[in-house]
Amino acid sequence: MAEKIYLYPVWLRIWHAINALMFLVLIATGISMQYSHPDAPLIRFDRAVSWHNIAGIIVSLNYLIFLMGNLITKNGSFYKIKLKGLIKSLIKQFDYYLRGLFKREPAPFPISEERKFNPLQKVTYVGTMYVLVPIIIITGLALLFPETIVSKVFNYSGIYLTALLHGTVGFLLSVFLVIHVYFSTIGASPSSNFKGMINGWHEKH
Ligand code: HEM
Repeated sequence: MAEKIYLYPVWLRIWHAINALMFLVLIATGISMQYSHPDAPLIRFDRAVSWHNIAGIIVSLNYLIFLMGNLITKNGSFYKIKLKGLIKSLIKQFDYYLRGLFKREPAPFPISEERKFNPLQKVTYVGTMYVLVPIIIITGLALLFPETIVSKVFNYSGIYLTALLHGTVGFLLSVFLVIHVYFSTIGASPSSNFKGMINGWHEKH
């Protein structure tokens, strides 16, 4: 029997499930509003707008669960990055993903109760959860209440710039999601990390 460690508390799993589901709605409706032809939309435009707004508000409120949870429980400690030796450990992890993994070498930073994330995972999660997600929430709320946006920045429309930033970060988060789901398949078995995010228990390699 593989060794299991309890890594994902209930509040985190609830946050993650709502977040993942709502992100899928946001990406589908966002792509539809941005790219589809008005005469043949992927999702009817007015519906896409309403669903995108509702899902965006849910993600924003849900983000407060993530922030509070990481503030008051031990989970927040896994997101603290130590700068000393960071580059070296990132290179080590990269090398493992490019080479060692395929030779079945042991992971350089195995997951344990004290170390939930490898260095690359930690930097990606911090960048996503504390930089990209706040930017997309703030720009999204601003676009929901456009009267709050400054009208001109260096002669460019403030709404245009806000929308550009919102769309760019939306693209980056979509790229994150694809990579995130791919890396989630690298576990004790291809499905074990997904099971872990449902039942709370991480299965060790
Ligand atoms: C279909 C969508 C998604 C799936 C299947 C998925 C899957 C997973 C899995 C299996 C884990 C546990 C293993 C690990 O730590 O890597 C995880 C953790 C995590 N996911 Fe996702 N995810 C999805 C969407 C997202 C989105 C949209 C975000 C953020 C924008 C996100 C952020 C995170 C974070 C921050 C963790 C670590 C949480 C913690 O332990 O503190 N995920 N995800």
